[in-house]
Amino acid sequence: MRVFIGVTGASGQIYARRLIEVLHEEGVDVEISVTRSAEYVMEQEGVDLPENVRRYDPKDLTAPPASGTYRIDAYIVCPCTLHTLSSVAVGVAGDLIKRAAVVALKEGRPLVFVVRETPWPRSALQAALKLREEGAVILPACPAFYHGPTTIEDLVDYVVQKVLDTIGVEVDLVRYQPRGMNFR
Ligand SMILES: Cc1cc2nc3c(=O)[nH]c(=O)nc-3n(C[C@H](O)[C@H](O)[C@H](O)COP(=O)(O)O)c2cc1C
Repeated sequence: MRVFIGVTGASGQIYARRLIEVLHEEGVDVEISVTRSAEYVMEQEGVDLPENVRRYDPKDLTAPPASGTYRIDAYIVCPCTLHTLSSVAVGVAGDLIKRAAVVALKEGRPLVFVVRETPWPRSALQAALKLREEGAVILPACPAFYHGPTTIEDLVDYVVQKVLDTIGVEVDLVRYQPRGMNFR
């Protein structure tokens, strides 16, 4: 399985790091591209990304993920800015991440936007609805608290688990056994 991850300049770069780590551990072929804004936010948040993955310059629109003939099984934008979400919604593909997302839509391949912003302006809500109607999954970076998290990593793992559930990668990052239920 090959997964393309676009990392954009929203808060929550730690989600990208953990997502890449887990996919790599699961033997998934991970390819990434990181915007300039994401690099800046990463510095602010003290996060480094793993180096053992293929990384493309986001300005390189000749890179393989820019083409639908290059086989990619799932595309994830994590974390995703409203800028990138809104651009893709109107088909503006000025960098490799947006172009790859447009390719995913045109080819009908799994596409997940792990959006991080609050509150949301009307334009972003409309963009998200449009992308959902085209088949993309809008997955806000929105951790839950019912599984008893005690660390930031527990909260991050909750979101990463949700992303991986969406693309069909089976992992067991979140252990939750509510009384009377047995679903994981
Ligand atoms: C420290 C910092 C945090 C930011 N956090 C967010 C955020 O959580 N969500 C968002 O949509 N934009 C956020 N932004 C703004 C984006 O980085 C900005 O819109 C940028 O143009 C996005 O470009 P990109 O989508 O190409 O990465 C943040 C900017 C900075 C400097």
